[in-house]
Amino acid sequence: MPQATFYFPTGFLWGTATASHQVEGGNTNNNWSAWEEQPGRIHAGERSGLACDWWGGRWREDLDRAAEAGQNAHRMSLEWSRIQPAPDRWDEAALDHYRTIVRGMVERGMTPLITLHHFTDPLWLTEQGGWESEKTPDLFAAYVRRAVEALQEYASLWVTINEPNVYTYSGFISGEFPPGKHDMGLGFRVMANLVRGHARAYAAIHALQRHARAGIALHYRGFVPARRWLPLDGLVAGVQHRLFNQVFPRALTDGTLDFITSRVRVPEAAHTQDFLGVNYFTRDHVAFAPLLPLQAFGRNFFPADADLSGTGYLANDPEGMFEALRWAHGYGLPLVVTENGVEDANDGMRPRYLAQHVHQVWRAVNFNWQIKGYFHWSLVDNFEWERGWSQRFGLWELDVETQARRKRPSADLYAAICRENGLSSAMVTRYAPEVYSNLFPG
Ligand code: BGC
Repeated sequence: MPQATFYFPTGFLWGTATASHQVEGGNTNNNWSAWEEQPGRIHAGERSGLACDWWGGRWREDLDRAAEAGQNAHRMSLEWSRIQPAPDRWDEAALDHYRTIVRGMVERGMTPLITLHHFTDPLWLTEQGGWESEKTPDLFAAYVRRAVEALQEYASLWVTINEPNVYTYSGFISGEFPPGKHDMGLGFRVMANLVRGHARAYAAIHALQRHARAGIALHYRGFVPARRWLPLDGLVAGVQHRLFNQVFPRALTDGTLDFITSRVRVPEAAHTQDFLGVNYFTRDHVAFAPLLPLQAFGRNFFPADADLSGTGYLANDPEGMFEALRWAHGYGLPLVVTENGVEDANDGMRPRYLAQHVHQVWRAVNFNWQIKGYFHWSLVDNFEWERGWSQRFGLWELDVETQARRKRPSADLYAAICRENGLSSAMVTRYAPEVYSNLFPG
């Protein structure tokens, strides 16, 4: 059997990604805590509750785990509603708390990547229209200024907004996220405001910290025409790709939001990315469906022979990772894989998913595309939004009742990758032998 190691460039960032509402616990002042109170919104009526109790101090033990497992970076997010609990109030104690956590990362030898907005909005903001309102971009920039002032001593890598495309799609088109609307036109308005918010945040960050690197984390979804011979499938897959994947990075490149049938100019957004963050999980197959206008007339599904995750939420489709990076490379920016992972409570699939996706990142690195790091989603099982606790994405398992953590085998595989700065045939033999011949053809 061939023996080899796929090495990554020196200084490559290896980490995990987390988000405030999903790990902190005790968030009661944002739109998601209100959403969790509404019947029927969250799987089995579950709540984020104590989450992983990071706000209570368990971030320490989890970051210890990450550092001991060879991770040299961590991506976390800040909770706007903690830092600015009311329009006229800034909470210095919350900022201090975040300083302690981010300093804790640096002390553990991990480069912090800080997300300023990861799906949640303060309740007071929601009450005045949230991102539907023209006023929100400036309010966001004011919050970003405060946060960056407080943390700039320790952090210089910033994601302004996580997955603005998922925020818009899930909140304003499919309605699974708050505010639960189904209105494409409103979605376009929200997208334009998110672009304005990003542009103002980008300017605020650079005004405070000249060497900062700022960008977004985009959810890249592959859309594969279901029937290659049917032009309509290709057409709707192309429309979904343009609306879901392209609108934001294009707007941050040339200041134009291209909604295909209409365009909005936000000139100040041009050239406001220092890197492009790519969150990749899976690819969809798309078939023309005349009765689904909100889906751009496409029905999305996984093929019958797909390698599906625990609840069927994701298909293990590593080629899509390469495709995502090839597409992202087209923007001519440094790239970071800001999320990639799979829900898999018994860790039956995760080792091969991890090995296969890291292998695809390595392939892309070998084209000399400027890929700077990989952040696995996620460190410990955490609150999965409308899916509650039904999906387990952690390298460590969490017992939500007792807060006990238990390491999954994938954590050891990922530790080996991080320590070696590469993926070896010995690792694959040990943790994911079923894909050995696929990754190391003889
Ligand atoms: C989001 C995370 C989420 C993950 C898995 C990503 O789209 O950024 O917050 O937990 O998907 O569902």
